[in-house]
Amino acid sequence: MATVKEKDYSQYFQPPSYADAKKRGKEDIKVHYDFSIPEEMQRLGAGKKYLIRTYGCQMNEHDSETMKGMFEAMGYEPTEDKQEADVILLNTCAIRENAEDKVFGELGHLKTLKTQKPNLVLGVCGCMSQEEGVVNRIMTKHQFVDLIFGTHNIHRLPKLLQEAYFGKEMVVEVWSKEGDIVENLPKKREGMKAWVNIMYGCDKFCTYCIVPYTRGKERSRRHEDVIAEVRELARQGFKEVTLLGQNVNAYGKDFEDIRYTFADLMRDIQKIDIPRIRFTTSHPRDFDDHLIEVLANRGNMVEHIHLPVQSGNTDILKKMSRKYSREHYLELVAKIKRAIPDVVLTTDIIVGFPGETDEQFEDTMSLVREVRYDSAFTFIYSPREGTPAAAMLDDIPEQLKKERLLRLNDLLAEIGREANEKLRGQTVEVLVEGESKTNPDVLSGRTRTNKLVHFPGPKSLIGKFVQVKITEPMTWFIKGELAAESAPAAANM
Ligand code: 5AD
Ligand code: SF4
Repeated sequence: MATVKEKDYSQYFQPPSYADAKKRGKEDIKVHYDFSIPEEMQRLGAGKKYLIRTYGCQMNEHDSETMKGMFEAMGYEPTEDKQEADVILLNTCAIRENAEDKVFGELGHLKTLKTQKPNLVLGVCGCMSQEEGVVNRIMTKHQFVDLIFGTHNIHRLPKLLQEAYFGKEMVVEVWSKEGDIVENLPKKREGMKAWVNIMYGCDKFCTYCIVPYTRGKERSRRHEDVIAEVRELARQGFKEVTLLGQNVNAYGKDFEDIRYTFADLMRDIQKIDIPRIRFTTSHPRDFDDHLIEVLANRGNMVEHIHLPVQSGNTDILKKMSRKYSREHYLELVAKIKRAIPDVVLTTDIIVGFPGETDEQFEDTMSLVREVRYDSAFTFIYSPREGTPAAAMLDDIPEQLKKERLLRLNDLLAEIGREANEKLRGQTVEVLVEGESKTNPDVLSGRTRTNKLVHFPGPKSLIGKFVQVKITEPMTWFIKGELAAESAPAAANM
């Protein structure tokens, strides 16, 4: 039970427990298709505005789309201005300490706002709410927060909001164990790109990672539901769908009644008339030959695979419990490159894992040189309370960790630039996403391989596919010009 000094919340709140979160039973996951917002709540937000601030990964971004959908189904209007918001939700990330620091910093600012506007409803949700220590910290040190809920009960938002309005106490609802899958939640999607969850949770328990605790066990959505959602998005005119899961390669492993894998799902989605399909994130351990075969058929499957390696040293990989060796990873990369020679590979890397020696770090550098990633997300190891790695001796001086990160980033920049240089003079398909952030006469878009391209062009091309000739490759983006065959009249996809 929570021990809270000023107020006793223990009668209605059980803090999230990692021990409970780690219990992975065989019990069947139920799928609920009957979600609806009760009629009396459909006017709860009339004349009111909501603001959601999202931290972290695409899974969180997509959860925010679901919450926005629910808010708008209750009559709320969106706002980006804190001053005019009636409800502010922070959808938080727990992956590294600096993500959490940002949220606590923001809470500090919001305290002032809450004093000025006592009727403001202030909520904290997302991965931080699933952490054992965080909920207690908020309850004791940030008592102006009105509402805390976790990642497993997003669908309860309407009910919880109602409680926050009508109750005097902080409303706290966090389930240690994942619940069922709830289908048919409203979603607010914008633009031409959509995210689709294919599974929730993670069972990999990499020793540094908090996600298996905050997101619960692996639960796959039924493939009929995923396919129906992608079909509907195609019908609505979306141009690109990203399939989301913490470990998409484990899709379907939890089905008891049928054998249906991620490769099967991709094969079925390949038949849907939507121009581009992406997926994230892959785990190298479960990336099988069947999947490579399906991806090699291309069509709407883009030539980009994000394949987190984390380290290039087998002993560190073992300590991370990644369940593959350097050699196995390199074999997988070779297989993928044989099947899809122009594939673009990107990755995630952690430097400064407990005990990482200079030699072990050099193995990561040499692996990067060998694979030649086009880009990577790189991180300094951040201990997460309650994970096995947090109990390991974190013996690498901060300065050394920073130096390693800098060297790694320099190498990645050099390789990324060389890879982009090869595109000079080529013509590539670009999905135009909008005006460039710095110049309204310049448009920005992405290639199939997810490279950012800037080129001059009219706004009428936004949302369309065009052919762009690459004129000036840079390190993290590319400049180009509309190719002759993409004159505005022809660019009609
Ligand atoms: N410290 C640093 N980086 C981490 N990641 C996950 N947990 C940690 C941690 N404790 C990184 C991994 C993962 C990415 C999403 O975040 O590289 O792939
Ligand atoms: Fe975390 Fe590993 Fe699961 Fe990825 S696969 S979410 S790094 S535990």
